[in-house]
Amino acid sequence: MPVQTAYIRSVGRFVPERKLTNQDMEKMVDTNDEWIVSRTGIRERHILDKGLGNSHMATRAARECLERAGVGADELDVIIVGTVTPDMFFPSTACLVQKDLGARNAWGFDLSAGCSGFIFSLTTGAQMIESGRYKRVLVIGSDVMSSIIDYEDRNTCVLFGDAAGAVLLEASPEPGYGILDFIQRIDGAGGEFLHMKAGGSLRPSTLETVQNKEHYVHQEGRQVFKFAVTEMANVSVRILEKNGLTGEDVTLFVPHQANLRIIEASANRMGIDPGKVVINIDRYANTTAATIPLCLYESIVEQKRVKKGDYIVMSAFGAGFTWGSILMRWWE
Ligand code: ACO
Repeated sequence: MPVQTAYIRSVGRFVPERKLTNQDMEKMVDTNDEWIVSRTGIRERHILDKGLGNSHMATRAARECLERAGVGADELDVIIVGTVTPDMFFPSTACLVQKDLGARNAWGFDLSAGCSGFIFSLTTGAQMIESGRYKRVLVIGSDVMSSIIDYEDRNTCVLFGDAAGAVLLEASPEPGYGILDFIQRIDGAGGEFLHMKAGGSLRPSTLETVQNKEHYVHQEGRQVFKFAVTEMANVSVRILEKNGLTGEDVTLFVPHQANLRIIEASANRMGIDPGKVVINIDRYANTTAATIPLCLYESIVEQKRVKKGDYIVMSAFGAGFTWGSILMRWWE
């Protein structure tokens, strides 16, 4: 464990008002509520209004996070935005958020790791605090998945929604609290099963790439599922073993919300009571980098399910492949 750990001082979130229910999806593609609920656990998702970008949501989540902590934007040192749907390639969403917040003393960057974007960003920010170089790091997970989804493709359009979440990291007031440990992995061999074909330097946008629908999420769901269900469970179990803990020691398991069956399989392997698992996939679907901060907001800020000293495990799996788990001990 590092000498100085980082802890989450505050959480904020933004969820767009507009909803798309499974019944709405039934009118758009050949699907039905029963299929979506039984295969994924999703009932509805929120969609950002056209004309707004990622930074709109990210800034609002960040503002709430800072207001809750009573911290001014000019007190921030670093802003990290986990996302695969930036407003544009450049400038980074972190730059846009920095401007909108008025965080004149901060630098920052975007971090691309698919659905693991938040946990990779969180551990990156935590290590900046641990180094002693920075006092306040704002970590945001924000994705406008509706901007890269083909709403004629039933295989993917039912799965995703839009949202943002933000946390403020500072040095833990006491040793032994905050982000204690993490395991993170990537395997580029998984790229073929989950990617966006065009729009990057390899296949720049052309009329042809647009006509071929190459600017949308391409996912081979079954392949991704097989890998995700095994590896997310493996790292979730491993982070406990590595720290001499069992599922019984954990108060909250906060998994990425891609599929209820993946969540349940991971919790089962960890030996965690279902009542300790945070689930909101039914209301938001997969919001990619935003799922975990949304869960933290609901379970900790709204429902007050943790107290000082409680252990929390967060785990995610996403495009890349990328995956990992974090062990945190709550301080408040
Ligand atoms: N409505 C009705 N039928 C559907 C729909 C739908 N919306 N979508 C697919 N089907 C059909 C398929 O066409 C297929 O029909 P067929 O057997 O006639 O070919 C059948 O349902 C079964 O399809 P599968 O893909 O095998 O269904 P599966 O049970 O695997 O569920 C799902 C699909 C939900 C996508 C699942 O595979 C999954 O969750 N995969 C993992 C997703 C994930 O974790 N992604 C990582 C994060 S995302 C990121 O990083 C950006």
